[in-house]
Amino acid sequence: MTDKGAYVREMFARIAPRYDATNRVMTAGMDERWRRRAIALLAAPKGGAILDLCCGTGDVVFHLLRTDPSLHVTGIDFCAPMLDGARARAPKEARGDATFVEGDVMTLPFPDASFDGATMGFSLRNVVDIDAVLAEIRRVLKPGARFVNLDVSKAPNAIWKRCFDLYFYKMVPLIGGLVGGSKQAYTYLPQSLTHHPNADELRDRFAKAGFADAGYVRLMGGAIAIHYGSNQTSPVIPSAAQRSRGADV
Ligand SMILES: C[S@@+](CC[C@H](N)C(=O)[O-])C[C@H]1O[C@@H](n2cnc3c(N)ncnc32)[C@H](O)[C@@H]1O
Repeated sequence: MTDKGAYVREMFARIAPRYDATNRVMTAGMDERWRRRAIALLAAPKGGAILDLCCGTGDVVFHLLRTDPSLHVTGIDFCAPMLDGARARAPKEARGDATFVEGDVMTLPFPDASFDGATMGFSLRNVVDIDAVLAEIRRVLKPGARFVNLDVSKAPNAIWKRCFDLYFYKMVPLIGGLVGGSKQAYTYLPQSLTHHPNADELRDRFAKAGFADAGYVRLMGGAIAIHYGSNQTSPVIPSAAQRSRGADV
């Protein structure tokens, strides 16, 4: 694992016990509404197998199952304490089939074309290589299956962006310190947006990775965005591991 990966994993391990409460306070409960919107955009097929990448304490997984208990949802995350939180919530919150797997989304431990849809919430900013993760997601999706990504973004209106940045870069660390127990972690999280592509650029990265109909929906004046795209049927995509080995496909 890279230095960034190890740093991110250790940071989430620190904030895991109070992660859910801090989220609700930081977003005034709106994060739940955004997740529901993302799930509506996924339009998962009945009874489908869905992968939630960087599942953390399971918020998106449980929302998926509340929306449609016929789904089979697998959450993957590389931070064991976050997964512990998800597993502890599951008996109360999962109305159906939820499985949690420890692993790195840079090299997904799943066979090609094994999922009918994929989701990711508030995490793409944290991965080491966005393009590698998008390629991995395509690899494990069945032809035509959709991927939906919910995350903080860069609002296009300069005045609104300044207001949001003030909140995100100044208030979030304070709330993170008071409620989440780690001001340092919640200082890193906003900074992960600084070098993240803006919404148009990210849509173009989806398209470049081979997602058909790549697009996005803006929420909160563009401070939040939901990107989506469908897995094109061809060509065969090499996994991150195959690419790093330079394997032929
Ligand atoms: C901000 S939390 C989001 C959790 C959840 N998706 C949600 O919506 O609340 C980010 C999560 O991404 C995980 N994560 C970051 N990089 C990862 C990677 N390369 N592989 C697996 N999990 C990763 C972290 O451990 C953390 O649980």
